[in-house]
Amino acid sequence: MSRRLRSLATIDDCAVLETVLQLGREVGEEDAGVHVLGQCVDGRRGQGTLLAQTRSMAAEFAPFGIRVDALAPGTPDTDMSASERAPLAPLMPLLVEDPPPLDPGRTLRRSVRMSISTTAAPVPRTDIPKAPLLDTLRALFGGTSQRIDMLSRLQRLYDEKGPVVSQSAGFFQLVNLFGPDANRFVLLDRDDLFSSRKPWMAIMGRIFPNGLLLRDGEEHKQHRKIMHAAFIRPALRQYLERMNPMIARGLDGWRARRDGFLAFRAFKELTLDIAASIFVGVDLGPETTRMNGVFEDLVAASMSRLRLPIPGLEFHRGLKGRAFMVDYFRRLIPQRRAASRDDMFSRLCRAESEEGARFSDADVIDHMVFLMMAAHDTTTSTLTSMTYELARHPAWQERLRDESRNLGKPWIDFDDVEKLEGLTWVMKEALRRYPPLPVIPRVALRDFEWEGFRIPAGAMVVLSPIHTHHMREWWPDPERFDPERFSPPRAEDEKHTHCWVPFGGGVHLCIGYRFAEVQVKSIMHQMLLGLRWRVPEGYRMPVQQAPISKPLDGLPVLFERLA
Ligand code: HEM
Repeated sequence: MSRRLRSLATIDDCAVLETVLQLGREVGEEDAGVHVLGQCVDGRRGQGTLLAQTRSMAAEFAPFGIRVDALAPGTPDTDMSASERAPLAPLMPLLVEDPPPLDPGRTLRRSVRMSISTTAAPVPRTDIPKAPLLDTLRALFGGTSQRIDMLSRLQRLYDEKGPVVSQSAGFFQLVNLFGPDANRFVLLDRDDLFSSRKPWMAIMGRIFPNGLLLRDGEEHKQHRKIMHAAFIRPALRQYLERMNPMIARGLDGWRARRDGFLAFRAFKELTLDIAASIFVGVDLGPETTRMNGVFEDLVAASMSRLRLPIPGLEFHRGLKGRAFMVDYFRRLIPQRRAASRDDMFSRLCRAESEEGARFSDADVIDHMVFLMMAAHDTTTSTLTSMTYELARHPAWQERLRDESRNLGKPWIDFDDVEKLEGLTWVMKEALRRYPPLPVIPRVALRDFEWEGFRIPAGAMVVLSPIHTHHMREWWPDPERFDPERFSPPRAEDEKHTHCWVPFGGGVHLCIGYRFAEVQVKSIMHQMLLGLRWRVPEGYRMPVQQAPISKPLDGLPVLFERLA
């Protein structure tokens, strides 16, 4: 039985040989029978070089008893899912045959995936490097300061202790796994090792029980299949049509405010109004105002540290808010099941999986309450960080404004979403620097092994997108706002399948990521056409990174109205 030591790493081919040699030496010294698999992922050019490299690797590794192979056509690659393998199929034959003539017009961009496995299995260690107790206690029970700069702490743990770090206090054990390989291993969860329900129930279960993220296994799969009906392209197209005039109305309100506003607050109001219309199907008015207020109470309560149902406390207001929303949706369900309306609530009421499964009333209610939460705080956070970076980088703001003007439309259509290339890069860069969800928790259902350590069942395993997004190993100059890193010639996010993970991955990959893209881009497009904004010279947004990234001061921006 072979043991995977380092699963897929994707690296530039110029670094291939060196990296493989390094990995090979590390492994070769400990184990016999190491097997290296090289596979060209984006090998439009230069397969010859890759083959030559593979051959020289083979020679280099021979003394260590290591075998090096390129993938033969049709070789089953157990590391990759069917959907990942499909686009590679045409490339595979090229790896073992002579390369075709080079097409001089194509960009030279290649990368190599490799995996290393050994035949001998060393005993995993149990002495996981530990964070100092005081540091752990401060992180668990400390106040807002711990939520503000989570990144520095994670960087310190990684730099001092390595890619696996344990934090324990009493019965509680939390294990940080750092880096894209860990993200891939945990999120894809090929061996059903992890529960998403357990940690998320502990975090928000009293306010948002039974949301999609709070379900595991077969039940989660079935619910996701049914919910999919509310996120298909025709549905997104209709949501956007409904959203555009609402954004225009919202922006008119901002323009009337003369010359400035708190961006975070303004986006929150706008996304809540949009949610009331798109998600619930109610128009602006007293009903929306009431619902938005209740909804804010729910979100505040889910993040509250003091979880006692005492009247007057945030948490109590949240519980009352939940009861209000449950009652509100329950009363509307019969009517929405009967009518063919196109808001998300009505779609969930009617949604059916291919096998004909449908949601019960309780399911619809739980999913609706969770969806509204999942959608609005995350998009508000993204819009705010984009607004900030564009204020600090006026050249980028002008570039995007030109791009939007060139589209020649006041509102974008669904088919325009992909066309706004610069806006795509800026959105991706904002999500890299300020991922709305900085960490992703799971609970281990069984003991498992990672990076040579045995991690016990019951441990809370924490991935950190915010840390991965700032790893120097993957992102040159990671603190710099540099949207071009997502442009095709650089494509830094494609160096590894899981180095850019603001939407998570695997079975719990954010179901609303396309919705978020549509919403963020349509708001930004209208903003760029209607306003030019800035922040005072030298201003730095004070960010609270957790639990959801947001500015502590609401991000005050100054603006100028454009004709
Ligand atoms: C920029 C905006 C957004 C970001 C950064 C984001 C991020 C994420 C992340 C990281 C997860 C996975 C969490 C985990 O694995 O523990 C997730 C899951 C989810 N998100 Fe989003 N999200 C965004 C917008 C939305 C929107 C607009 C919706 C709904 C319209 C939505 C609905 C969901 C749902 C239902 C899940 C659970 C999926 C599942 O368990 O299968 N999200 N989101």
